[in-house]
Amino acid sequence: MTTPEETPGTPASEPGLPATEEAAALPAAPAAITRIFSGMQPSGELHIGNWLGALANWVALQDRHPCIFSIVDLHAITQDYEPAEMPARIRDMALGWLAAGIDPERSVVFVQSAVPEHAELAWIFNTLVPLGLLERMTQFKDKAKNQPENVNSGLLTYPLLQAADIAIYKADGVPVGEDQVQHLEMARDAVRKFNNRYGEVFPEPQPILSPARKVLGLDGERKMSKSLNNQIGLNDSPELVWAKLAPAKTDVRRKKRTDPGVPEDCNIFAWHGFFSSPGERAWAAEGCRTAGIGCRDCKQVLAKNIDAALAPMRERRAALERHPGRVDEILAAGAATLRPIARATMEEVRERMGLDARVRYAGQPPAPPLRGID
Ligand code: AMP
Ligand code: TRP
Repeated sequence: MTTPEETPGTPASEPGLPATEEAAALPAAPAAITRIFSGMQPSGELHIGNWLGALANWVALQDRHPCIFSIVDLHAITQDYEPAEMPARIRDMALGWLAAGIDPERSVVFVQSAVPEHAELAWIFNTLVPLGLLERMTQFKDKAKNQPENVNSGLLTYPLLQAADIAIYKADGVPVGEDQVQHLEMARDAVRKFNNRYGEVFPEPQPILSPARKVLGLDGERKMSKSLNNQIGLNDSPELVWAKLAPAKTDVRRKKRTDPGVPEDCNIFAWHGFFSSPGERAWAAEGCRTAGIGCRDCKQVLAKNIDAALAPMRERRAALERHPGRVDEILAAGAATLRPIARATMEEVRERMGLDARVRYAGQPPAPPLRGID
């Protein structure tokens, strides 16, 4: 299992509790945190990597801080997509979050493009951050390689829209997985540059990492990710979880049942660290080292524990699907709550920057029609 390692101020939780309890046991973010913001692209089914790396933390944090969670559709369009499918993708992501325990009574949930000020602030950050810094972003380089036919500028400036998402609400804590830490550095850089140039407006946001910073996929090698098809989905049935786990990679030393293994070199054992009790983990480690158990025995216990963590999410999702209008209501209410906040921040930003046109030219008598334009 990866050593639970944390952002300063967010020490590891008690290892080995089932995921839901583990989330509840997570400590609060640093006391200085006043507002949480995070987001995800509406890009397909949520998996246990999203859950352990980010969502479980979101659920825990909503008890302790004001939280805002955004479905970032404007980020999603930097990749090829089908416009007709976007609304369903957005609703599906919202359903997944609510099923996972995001509570709209305590957290604000909304769709990024419903608050246009995000894009306006992103433009401002575009004028402050040098091109060279953006070109160095690992995710930009990866995506440019993966979609060579569509290296649009949005792909490059993606982290500045992300910075704007956070800054527009003056959020200072951002729960994400490890792969987003570099983007968070960029967000800090962007707001620092703004504050230096125009005066102190934005706090510097810090990442809040969960103990599972990076969850590997079923291949035991690469990060769990939908695009690699190595995931266990949060909505997977017990049968499907088992169908995926049974052939999943274990320690290569255990070719035969009688071959002993090294649990620390086995991703299945790492997953026990997220889902199983200390007693079960000790049983799995001992059985692996002594060849007292087979990998199949080890996986069966894990499958049972994963099912126990996923069952309440599946049930909540099924209940929500019976009320399709509810998700839209929640997203509409979220946007209505946030619009005035975003508007106020942009007013402050424009004022600092000498961009007073909206105020100066507000309420003027209507201009006489220009010739040819009515
Ligand atoms: P994505 O699925 O890449 O859009 O990521 C959504 C959120 O989940 C981000 O905060 C990621 O850092 C986090 N995340 C995604 N995959 C993993 C993983 N395999 N392990 C840990 N965190 C992850
Ligand atoms: N880039 C993030 C991801 O791919 C999604 C995101 C957009 C985000 N804006 C954000 C995350 C603001 C945290 C804060 O997962």
